Amino acid sequence: MTQPGRRPHRPSRPQRAHPPKRPDTPARPPSDDPARRAALDTLRAVRHDDAYANLVLPKMLRDRRITGRDAALATELTYGTSRALGLLDEILTECCDRPLAKVEPVLLDALRLGAYQLLRTRIPSHAAVASTVDLVRNELGSRVTGFANAVLRKVAELDEPGWLDRIAPDATTDPVGNLAVRTAHPRWVARAFADALGSTGEELADALRADDERPAVHLVARPGEVSADELAAMTGGDPAPYSPYGVRLEAGAGDPGDLEPIRERMAGVQDEGSQLCAVALTRPEVEGADTRWLDLCAGPGGKAALLGALVGINGGTLDAVEQAPHRAKLVEQITKGLPVTVHVGDGREPGLSGTFDRVLVDAPCTGLGALRRRPEARWRRRPEDVGDLTKLQRELLLSALDLVRPGGVVAYVVCSPHLAETEGVLADVIRKTGVTVLDARESFPEMPGLGDGPYVQLWPHRHGTDAMFCALLRK
Ligand SMILES: C[S@@+](CC[C@H](N)C(=O)[O-])C[C@H]1O[C@@H](n2cnc3c(N)ncnc32)[C@H](O)[C@@H]1O
Repeated sequence: MTQPGRRPHRPSRPQRAHPPKRPDTPARPPSDDPARRAALDTLRAVRHDDAYANLVLPKMLRDRRITGRDAALATELTYGTSRALGLLDEILTECCDRPLAKVEPVLLDALRLGAYQLLRTRIPSHAAVASTVDLVRNELGSRVTGFANAVLRKVAELDEPGWLDRIAPDATTDPVGNLAVRTAHPRWVARAFADALGSTGEELADALRADDERPAVHLVARPGEVSADELAAMTGGDPAPYSPYGVRLEAGAGDPGDLEPIRERMAGVQDEGSQLCAVALTRPEVEGADTRWLDLCAGPGGKAALLGALVGINGGTLDAVEQAPHRAKLVEQITKGLPVTVHVGDGREPGLSGTFDRVLVDAPCTGLGALRRRPEARWRRRPEDVGDLTKLQRELLLSALDLVRPGGVVAYVVCSPHLAETEGVLADVIRKTGVTVLDARESFPEMPGLGDGPYVQLWPHRHGTDAMFCALLRK
């Protein structure tokens, strides 16, 4: 996100050193702008408590009985501001007379909200500025309203394309930096996408832009309970293009939890890419027994539920290991009634006896493949996270290769296209073990855009799924 020669910029969260500011005026007056108030309070929770906007905001809207147009506005402002955070900060930096790190955190939240309205909504400039100044006054009193007003008036001097022309690096000499700024992504994320795609041009732009799109809801039909066609008919959705168990709902189809097949546990909500990676583990032939399967990183259990149902059809069982006890509970809930045994433990040393015919390693990862699901996620992850994660990923994959029997299959899956987490982990493990690599594309039949293999990298802009990565190995 930084021009060559400019001070590297990092969005200034989290700022845990500063407790959230309380008004320095008498009690906060009742808000007559519930949408912006909810947006500001959610941004504060995301910054201060490391909360997730898409969990905090819906609850806040319910608790405060905010509905209709106000709820829609609060959602647009909160998610939009969260996604564009680093870009908004770059622009605010140009408009502030002090570093953003020196701006009171809640004031900065409000400025971000105001800048977002000015640059990315049709709200008239005067309304965007005035409503933000009102929020600031309610929150902090009158002492900083002049500052807020001055900063936002400077932001309003240009529209978004104007600001982008001013702050984005040159597209010819720095295409990745240019697209990072233009699509409001941290540079390291744009670089990771570019490396995985082998593109610094149109396709990279498509991949980055896809992170701003609201993903369609995908359902998974539980094998043995209902078929995808039946589920589609029951829910008004369409059978998914690639997963034999998938159904895609129309955007804005409402809360899937209200659907009868979900309530009756005949189906679940699961991205089609996740379904495909779980199913891919089951596709390569294995000689001999094929009834003992293992999921080494199972929480919250979406893939365990699908694999448990599939192995159960042939009288087999699935062991599901999860390190976090609360997530292991979720696996227990979602796999109730299936031949699944849940173990709380470390997948690197799960203490299980015997060997397994098929093992899934759906490893903890940066989640760069699912940025569209979490508005703030692109700014929360740090490049430094990658090193720790790849170490854990390698160890988990080595453990899986210990636990699988000779001739058995291991699927290594991450929800990230970052090459260090995908090809890098595999290169290391293959060098250490000499394990055989299968062409995973054969386990994603009739899917376009899978590249040269042997691994599979899915993409939102190509497949409408999360950017899941899948490698298949045979011991
Ligand atoms: C990507 S998620 C798995 C998603 C899951 N397979 C599903 O489809 O719902 C990775 C999981 O691994 C768990 N985990 C992290 N470190 C682990 C370890 N050392 N052993 C086992 N599980 C671990 C995390 O708590 C997280 O629940």
